[in-house]
Amino acid sequence: ILGTIGFMLSVNVGITIVVLVVTPVSLFVASFIAKRTFSMFKAQSETRGEQTALIDEMIGNQKIVQAFGQEKDAIEKFDEINGRLQTCSLKAIFFSSITNPSTRFVNSLVYTGVGIFGALAAINGRLTVGQLSSFLSYANQYTKPFNEISGVVTELQNAIACAGRVFELIEEKSQVPEVENAVSLQHVDGKVELKDVAFSYVPEQKLIENFNLQVKPGERVAIVGPTGCGKTTVINLLMRFYDVNSGSISVEDVDIREMTRHSLRAGYGMVLQETWLRAGTIRDNITVGKPDATQEEIEAAAKACHAHSFIMRLPEGYDTVISEDGGSLSQGQKQLLCITRVMLCRPPMLILDEATSSIDTRTELKIQNAFAKLMEGRTSFIVAHRLSTIRSADVILVMKDGHIIEQGNHETLLAQNGFYATLYNSQYAM
Ligand SMILES: Nc1ncnc2c1ncn2[C@@H]1O[C@H](COP(=O)(O)OP(=O)(O)O)[C@@H](O)[C@H]1O
Ligand SMILES: [Mg+2]
Repeated sequence: ILGTIGFMLSVNVGITIVVLVVTPVSLFVASFIAKRTFSMFKAQSETRGEQTALIDEMIGNQKIVQAFGQEKDAIEKFDEINGRLQTCSLKAIFFSSITNPSTRFVNSLVYTGVGIFGALAAINGRLTVGQLSSFLSYANQYTKPFNEISGVVTELQNAIACAGRVFELIEEKSQVPEVENAVSLQHVDGKVELKDVAFSYVPEQKLIENFNLQVKPGERVAIVGPTGCGKTTVINLLMRFYDVNSGSISVEDVDIREMTRHSLRAGYGMVLQETWLRAGTIRDNITVGKPDATQEEIEAAAKACHAHSFIMRLPEGYDTVISEDGGSLSQGQKQLLCITRVMLCRPPMLILDEATSSIDTRTELKIQNAFAKLMEGRTSFIVAHRLSTIRSADVILVMKDGHIIEQGNHETLLAQNGFYATLYNSQYAM
């Protein structure tokens, strides 16, 4: 661009100025259209996201959709979103395709202007025909980059619209940052203390209030209570997935807000009701927390968890490849694998949140015994529905609506003849 301006100036200053004044008009036109296409590209990528989410939800939950006869509904929803996607894609592509031709059109006007002014100048004898013809080719050379830039601008608009959605996620406020010089827990015995803890997910709806608990190293703490009373919430607080609203939780006498999240979580082994398995072999899934485990260690852990026999019945044993989310395994088998994973790591503290809910009662009891042996001298928190599995806990917390209403071991709680006794008897009256 600079080169051609120099050459044009050397040929004729007057016409060069005309060229320089008119060319920005093409940029103006390009930016005018580009601004409109941006919002269309944005709508397009949003609608596309909506469509992908629907497909993911409907195909991932195919059985439920079929069981409730929702196929027609799902198709209608898809068609509606697809229709909107079609409309906004069409608009986005149409308008973005117009940008380049419009700048070319404006630049052709520049070329025409140069032709007319040049011809008049040549007639008046201020310009030779040779100069005019070289000027025209310079003018052409000069506008070319503008055309090319406008061709890329639309692609840029599309990219920026899509990137905007990615940045929305990246710029989402992250978790509460760790305090400066947060300590890293080195040795964990399992002393946990909750002092006057209050917590709620939404401010208007109080959940946990006035929660006090002292756990000595090696104690087995069981939490029972009706669904929705806040058992999982207590676990979330212990792992610091959420911060308490007031009060404090400390491990080894250090407030958990003053230690690194990593060292706190490394202290716990956690098994939840929802299983998480990744695509890969059974062995890969068991050794997540301890990648360098030997085959003997893996088998010992699997035997203790009663997973060994079903793994050996799989076509390739420990090398059987399972798909994402466990694929062909039963829910109980998936839980057994997750338990084996924790058994292999031998964490200083253990959390089981309804981790054995899909496993038959007999195997569950055996696993509890294995854990009892493993966790000897280590602290564990166990949430379970079947009271038979928590009978041997050192402390049983009976929760209701976010409060501990009874606390003690099995015998004392039964003797109190309170809520726990009612729960216990209702399970065993059957
Ligand atoms: N992420 C969340 N946001 C808002 N409310 C929640 C969230 N998770 C759980 N709750 C609510 O908190 C209460 C306690 O839930 P939870 O601790 O999971 O119960 P449970 O004792 O069955 O494990 C329930 O009423 C539930 O609706
Ligand atoms: Mg729960």
